[in-house]
Amino acid sequence: MKRCIYPGTFDPFTNGHLDVLQRAASLFSHVRVAVAIDSTKQALFTPEQRVALIQANLHGLPNVDVVSFEGLLVEFARQQQSHAIIRGLRALSDFEFEFNMALMNRHLEPEVETLFVMPNEAFSYTSSSLVKQIAKLGGDVRKFVPANVARALRKAYAKK
Ligand code: COA
Repeated sequence: MKRCIYPGTFDPFTNGHLDVLQRAASLFSHVRVAVAIDSTKQALFTPEQRVALIQANLHGLPNVDVVSFEGLLVEFARQQQSHAIIRGLRALSDFEFEFNMALMNRHLEPEVETLFVMPNEAFSYTSSSLVKQIAKLGGDVRKFVPANVARALRKAYAKK
């Protein structure tokens, strides 16, 4: 049984994340999406909201589940008995950050391998922060995120 973890802040989950997740789900027998609670980023959505927004998009992916985690990613991977971490690489600009993180994680836990998946090029410019910026200014984000995420963004910014 080949298991992997797909970690991220997912604030919020985008169509690009979904694309990576679908690819990972076709390669592994089980994929656990791991929502970081203590990411360095100031999140718009709570970890519980981020988990729920992802869970609602798992139709057709019976081998995927979603949890949140705190602390070191490699420690979480070890607890889950998972030997692979999946990360999406959208463009060359992602590479340096991902490369450093993968090597640091390997240094911390040599048994855990990081694997990179390229999402469809249609998502190469999609990012959670750009989507939030557009939604905050009243723009239409329905092309970039699942419908439930677009609704949650509208609601979150209507309150502010
Ligand atoms: N499609 C669209 N966007 C994508 C994408 C894809 N396929 N893949 C990445 N992105 C974007 C996200 O939208 C996000 O954009 P933003 O920065 O503009 O908001 C960015 O790329 C990355 O976000 P995300 O994929 O959610 O992951 P992250 O980089 O925030 O996740 C952790 C980082 C959680 C994996 C990392 O901080 C971590 O491991 N934390 C735990 C603590 C730890 O172990 N630290 C030591 C690390 S060496």
